[in-house]
Amino acid sequence: MTLKDKRILLIISGGIAAYKSLDLIRRLRERGASVRPVMTKGAEEFVTPLAVGALSGGKVFTELFSREEEQDVGHIRLARECDLILVAPATADLMAKMANGLANDLASAVLLAADRPVLVAPAMNPKMWANRATERNVETLKGDGIRFIGPMKGEMAESGEAGLGRMAEPLEIVAAVEALLDGLPKPLAGRTAIVTSGPTHEPIDPVRYIANRSSGRQGHAIAAALAALGAEVTLVSGPVTIPDPAGVTTQHVETAREMLEAVEAALPADIAVMVAAVADWRVAASADEKIKKKPGDAPPALQLTENPDILKTVGHHARRPAVVIGFAAETQDVETNGRAKLERKGADFIVANDVSPETGIMGGTRNSVKIISAGGVDAWPDLSKEDVAARLAAMIADRLS
Ligand code: C5P
Repeated sequence: MTLKDKRILLIISGGIAAYKSLDLIRRLRERGASVRPVMTKGAEEFVTPLAVGALSGGKVFTELFSREEEQDVGHIRLARECDLILVAPATADLMAKMANGLANDLASAVLLAADRPVLVAPAMNPKMWANRATERNVETLKGDGIRFIGPMKGEMAESGEAGLGRMAEPLEIVAAVEALLDGLPKPLAGRTAIVTSGPTHEPIDPVRYIANRSSGRQGHAIAAALAALGAEVTLVSGPVTIPDPAGVTTQHVETAREMLEAVEAALPADIAVMVAAVADWRVAASADEKIKKKPGDAPPALQLTENPDILKTVGHHARRPAVVIGFAAETQDVETNGRAKLERKGADFIVANDVSPETGIMGGTRNSVKIISAGGVDAWPDLSKEDVAARLAAMIADRLS
């Protein structure tokens, strides 16, 4: 998937070409991108937020002056939490606002706050495109580093007039998005990262072990997301059934002690994200032979002993990575326990989540996390584990830059 884990903020403004944006969303998502849509009032005259939301699979943002939307994500975060801002269709009006720094609605405010690459796909009547005012605005925008795809030649949907003004086709826009993202420097290029993932298996005897329900999905997704930003990633994985992520060096281990050894061997590194659900205890003396059940015998008592704490070891290591992140899988007092863990483990961030069985997080595909740092607590919305990973990787890149 060519746009795997790429986050596109799609701004739809008001033109008949907005109907093509629906297909554009599908095409982008087919290639692995996530699409967050922002619609202008004009766009809502042509396509409904319901349709756009159904295709993008998430919330559609329309309001600047809405307390709920600003508290939820806010225009600054909308502008930052993406790899690229795509304006399709871009009307003459929105381009005029962009060229002049106006910010009186959500779309224009996001564009003014943007520090990510912006790609514009204009769509308008040929006379409007040829107007000197539009020409001036396009020159200004190009001078400001805004990229363009189209407009193309063709017949206008409304008037039948022919000329330059038709929006590029969705697949042409997708190709321009890919080309633009391919050409960008990767924010974690030259950085190294260690990620742990999955459960550990602690042997009782040669055939039995202590384990937990961790699937490795979140840790593997984080390894992939860091690699997508250019980091050289070593993934130390406990026993899982999911495949090794592409573009990552994966080491397979069974026990906590093997995991610690593999992690220490991978130091030094710039980033450590310890996601594995490491068993807290192992059997003090695991049996060399299978423990036999004999009629009349009492069940064997397992004597447990504490496993090494890998996160804590890394967080206090002589070669401590610049960014150390731990996870806190809790079923109660998620925030309080997360804060305590930050201190104890020497981590910069704790990603706290509630893994009570009713949340379905452990072993599931979605996650709802709180990011705890010295600076406070940031509650993220319910996201796929891939989206949590992409956000986390972007947060790490910001921290290191
Ligand atoms: O103490 P607790 O297990 O709740 O801490 C969770 C965090 O610590 C996770 O990031 C986990 O990967 C890490 N951890 C570890 N080694 C252990 C126990 C937990 O790295 N033995």
